[in-house]
Amino acid sequence: MNMAGKLMRAVQYYSYGGGVAGLKHVEVPVPAPKQDEVLIKLEAASINPVDWKIQKGELRPFLPPKFPFIPVTDVAGEVVECGSGVKNFKAGDKVVTIHKLLSGGGLAEFCVAKGSQTVPRPPEVSPAEAAGIPVAALTAHLALTQSAGVKLDGSGPQKNILVIAASGGVGHYAVQLAKLGNTHVTATCGARNMELVKSLGADEVLDYKTPDGAALRSPSGKKYDAVVYGATGIPWSTFELNLSENGKVIDLEPGVSTMWTFALKKLTFAKKQMVPLYLRINSETQENLNNLVKLVKEGKLKTVVDSKYPLSKAEDAWAKSMDGHATGKIIVEP
Ligand SMILES: NC(=O)c1ccc[n+]([C@@H]2O[C@H](COP(=O)([O-])OP(=O)(O)OC[C@H]3O[C@@H](n4cnc5c(N)ncnc54)[C@H](OP(=O)(O)O)[C@@H]3O)[C@@H](O)[C@H]2O)c1
Repeated sequence: MNMAGKLMRAVQYYSYGGGVAGLKHVEVPVPAPKQDEVLIKLEAASINPVDWKIQKGELRPFLPPKFPFIPVTDVAGEVVECGSGVKNFKAGDKVVTIHKLLSGGGLAEFCVAKGSQTVPRPPEVSPAEAAGIPVAALTAHLALTQSAGVKLDGSGPQKNILVIAASGGVGHYAVQLAKLGNTHVTATCGARNMELVKSLGADEVLDYKTPDGAALRSPSGKKYDAVVYGATGIPWSTFELNLSENGKVIDLEPGVSTMWTFALKKLTFAKKQMVPLYLRINSETQENLNNLVKLVKEGKLKTVVDSKYPLSKAEDAWAKSMDGHATGKIIVEP
């Protein structure tokens, strides 16, 4: 289908800041795919905290690259058109993709995506389940497999993993992936989500608002080989008490104090380490995304959907994410 000259609905912002009020519903031309791109019709997109952090200006001056900017990286949809260099997809294919933070574009009826960052969506995986996966599950996967050295087929040595914010987008995938890797999982979340997090496979769950939860104390006395840290405000001293001899804290939101601790621990050859983690799109992204989608298809991994919003109410999805209390993923549908 040739979409040249057609208009689409999209949500974009024009400057840093403004939160929900900064989002504007517009009609803009449907983008044309370049040689290595596919044009995708939106079935579902998911919001990640980084989307509104970019709007806040936390990654300025690099992101967004220009205004106005259509945010959101995680999209499931149907291929409408393929660039001449794309051989692995055709019109009508159902797919899931991850856009670079630099390009965004997901909060719209159509978007263009690199063929090399796109994978098929099997019918067993709904668009919403698929759209939840890219940033959150790839981050959980990276933290566990690369930083923590967990083997997802369970063939590695048994490790003790702590997942902080286990009810969130990243955390709920991290708990499930860590269990696939045959680890012992301690998880923290709010009281209302403790049963859910247990049902995802966590061996023990702490309410982060209790003294034991705040102290990250494992009820069974475990010392953690790795901590997937998807929150803020926990001092190194609290982590240190709970880490095993060579334990690592994998910080998903590294601030200044994390970078200091990271440098200090490296320079002093300390055994307990702080590891700042940033998800990057690279040559392994497509395969990893494909494997994660397959795990969902096989029923080994699930996407918990917090809530769904129509594109016409995308600002409500944005507000929900900014509020910081999502349970699983926030989804936007056309
Ligand atoms: N570095 C990277 O490449 C990368 C990639 C992805 C995400 N991130 C970052 O990782 C963080 C988590 O992302 P996300 O998508 O999982 O966020 P999210 O879905 O918005 O997380 C919300 C959840 O976190 C829980 N929570 C918040 N503070 C907590 C604490 N101190 N202890 C336990 N639970 C807590 C909340 O529980 P309650 O509602 O009960 O408070 C809520 O269920 C964000 O800061 C995000 O920007 C970084």
